[in-house]
Amino acid sequence: MQVSSFENCGAIVSGLQLAGMTDSQLTELRAAFNQHGLLFFRDQQLPPDEHLRFARRFGKIVVNKFFKTTIEHAEIAEVRKEKTQQTNIGGGWHTDHSYDDEPALGSILVARTLPKTGGNTHFADLAAAYDALPDILKKRLEGLRAIHSNTHLYGENGLYRLTDLADQLGGMDRVGDAIHPVVIRHPESGRKVLYVNPGHTIQFEGWDFNESRKLLDELYGHVNQPQFTSNFNWLPGSVTFWDNRRTWHMADNDYQGQIRLMHRITLAGAALTAG
Ligand code: OGA
Ligand code: MN
Repeated sequence: MQVSSFENCGAIVSGLQLAGMTDSQLTELRAAFNQHGLLFFRDQQLPPDEHLRFARRFGKIVVNKFFKTTIEHAEIAEVRKEKTQQTNIGGGWHTDHSYDDEPALGSILVARTLPKTGGNTHFADLAAAYDALPDILKKRLEGLRAIHSNTHLYGENGLYRLTDLADQLGGMDRVGDAIHPVVIRHPESGRKVLYVNPGHTIQFEGWDFNESRKLLDELYGHVNQPQFTSNFNWLPGSVTFWDNRRTWHMADNDYQGQIRLMHRITLAGAALTAG
């Protein structure tokens, strides 16, 4: 098994089939996951039952509250864009599930049907981005907490409800907020991570909304730089496994008129602690 850094976020793992890997390969893979926070795989043979098997070997599965699942497997979410659909899922920078009290550990995304071109996924490394913050900004973030929500997207009149994504979304009974430290200590690597994201972070706890906005936008601009990001082009057999506590992701929506279907399994995480 070889692990080589990919652009400025993540690493490509080669010489490994996720289906049928040995226990010692799994141990090696865990180490690579904790080191890089994002792993890419090519040429995998990973039908849904093997996708599930790999996920279960790695951790405990959690089911997303809003996406539909496949008919056969209640633990596999469909990230689907139909030919006729304009809006895609995850089209802006975000971290999944930051609106949960115990945000997901990560997701394993498998390409099932791809457009001829386009539909790349971008990633950003929030541990590297934190390290590179000026000391004065690191000081400002100390002890801060932020409110994360899904209401503006999935709630009544939420943005997604107003688009042609609405048909694919689950009910509104699980809409809600969570509060997390702005700088977290990564539970595995021990690294400090900047844990805010444009998709779900609303404002700093106890701050004026506009003051929050200003600092959040500054932080988002800092993260969204080439030295912290990568751009992954999917091919048949590609698999991506991201650490949801350490990365942002965002899907390009540049393939109108074509279908794109991915299968996602999400792994359960735990409450986050301040860094
Ligand atoms: C997701 C997501 C991005 C993509 O599955 O959470 O944002 O490229 N997907 O499909
Ligand atoms: Mn996502």
